[in-house]
Amino acid sequence: MTEALSLLLVAPPGAGKGTQAARLAAHYGIAHISSGELLRKNVSEGTGIGRIVAGYLARGDLAPDELVIEMLTVPVLEAVREGGFVLDGFPRTLRQAQEAQRVARQFGGIQLQAVIHLAVEREELRRRLLARAAREGRSDDNEETIAHRLEVFDAETDPLLGSYAERGLLVGVNGEQPVEQVFSDVVTGVDRRRAAHRRHSGPGDASSPLKGPV
Ligand code: AP5
Repeated sequence: MTEALSLLLVAPPGAGKGTQAARLAAHYGIAHISSGELLRKNVSEGTGIGRIVAGYLARGDLAPDELVIEMLTVPVLEAVREGGFVLDGFPRTLRQAQEAQRVARQFGGIQLQAVIHLAVEREELRRRLLARAAREGRSDDNEETIAHRLEVFDAETDPLLGSYAERGLLVGVNGEQPVEQVFSDVVTGVDRRRAAHRRHSGPGDASSPLKGPV
């Protein structure tokens, strides 16, 4: 059986995760799973998860780890059976990364092939999100919440990138270029990582807190 393609997109709010994940999913024929989209869907449908997380999303805080994991486990496992996934916006905390690794082990053989990071300066992130607020009115796109989401990214999520870099999984791309150029650079980086993965398939650096499959 061909191994499923497993990609993560870890980047700050407004960096272009959703934009690039949709293109990557179409390009590789894999599922696009967005933790933020799924959370917003739960909120709009008034599910049990949605009622709990609504306040977190409105403030720009991270939803509780256990709820996010619970929400993502089934879609990710389904996507693995169907060829793979690009996970947009997950993991965001060390606990999420470790829990994903535990689930991957439990259900067998989900090998992470690349973690994509899009680098964009703070001012450009604010500009994009405020422009989107004016266009689309997403409720967490306002000055105060944007500032908080960026702080949360710096405190909780950015520290994960070092461990992925140590494991040789990180594909870092300049996210300030036009969308098509960003996409082309991401695909080049991912294809290089996949070729390397095929040559040296195996677990990561044993000293990393994120060692192992995901
Ligand atoms: P989430 O939905 O993940 O939002 P986010 O991280 O704030 O990211 P955005 O959707 O704002 O931006 P993006 O990077 O996807 O960029 P996009 O492509 O849209 O999370 C929302 C909330 O849900 C979180 O705050 C948290 O509360 C919760 N949550 C989500 N995941 C969680 C998790 N794992 N754990 C706990 N809580 C979680 O682009 C942005 C704009 O820029 C668009 O208008 C786009 O057209 C434009 N753009 C994109 N690329 C370019 C480019 N190259 N040049 C110019 N403009 C561009």
